Amino acid sequence: MERSLSMELVRVTEAAALSSARWMGRGQKMEADDAATTAMRDVFDTIPMKGTVVIGEGEMDEAPMLYIGEKLGTGSGPLVDIAVDPLEGTNIVASGGWNALAVLAVADHGNLLHAPDMYMDKIAVGPEAVGQIDINASVIDNLKAVAKAKNKDIEDVVATVLNRPRHEEIIAQLREAGARIKLIEDGDVAAAINTAFDQTGVDILFGSGGAPEGVISAVALKCLGGEIQGRLLPQNEEEIKRCEKMGIDLKQVLRMEDLVRGDDAIFAATGVTDGELLRGVQFKGSYGQTHSVVMRAKSGTVRFVDGRHSLEKKPHLVMKP
Ligand code: FBP
Repeated sequence: MERSLSMELVRVTEAAALSSARWMGRGQKMEADDAATTAMRDVFDTIPMKGTVVIGEGEMDEAPMLYIGEKLGTGSGPLVDIAVDPLEGTNIVASGGWNALAVLAVADHGNLLHAPDMYMDKIAVGPEAVGQIDINASVIDNLKAVAKAKNKDIEDVVATVLNRPRHEEIIAQLREAGARIKLIEDGDVAAAINTAFDQTGVDILFGSGGAPEGVISAVALKCLGGEIQGRLLPQNEEEIKRCEKMGIDLKQVLRMEDLVRGDDAIFAATGVTDGELLRGVQFKGSYGQTHSVVMRAKSGTVRFVDGRHSLEKKPHLVMKP
């Protein structure tokens, strides 16, 4: 992949964030998602690449845009596979909460796991604890490993968990072990990435969330030198059959190399609402301000990009509710 693709891709997440940010706190998650999807789709088509969506808004018959299999880009340039989540945290935007992102990941053709739309059990850490975690081990053992790797006490370790009834047992074990816990309402991509940035104060992510989000998180953590392990968690017969069709054993631990293969991949995210790592979109009258991160696995370069977008020169960047 060309190096310049990174900067092109950040334009895509910027546009999605700018468009959906107008819906902040309006209780309309579908509208916010549609705005992000439309904006993302429009900008993708200006990028010189031959892209195919492998993780997107759904199958072709259920999603009008950014559906699985859709071709993106100008049709010339590198042959890439694309994972998108135009609005990661639709409920977050609807309620004006914390950590909604516009995100995408790109890798050479064939290198991203085509994760089905189902739950995935996950455990994720930043670079210092790579190689120390094990999704098959207990919560306490993983906490001990992370504490040791980061040279702190378990009481100082901060674990993020989606606040769901299905995570009751994990939360009880974290409390029993004495760790500090950040219960989040949504947004486990941001939670996974945050483990790799010291300033977020987060050490480890536990629990299940979307499998597509797991692959996108894996690309980010690959760029950052972190680690995520996953296991698909089908909820019914149909989902079990999908896993079988993909040749995935339900006990199989999906490691970094299963989630994203090869040595290169690009991840880009723009904050829609404020988070620990990225500020959300701010509107300042004639311009909109964005804060993004774009990173590449091959070089390990991580860039934070502040964008100032003229809403007079580019009115289409922002959709009005
Ligand atoms: P959406 O933006 O699609 O609503 O996803 C938000 C999210 O919180 C993800 O970050 C997470 O992986 C998933 O939903 C968890 O699913 P559930 O809400 O069913 O527990």
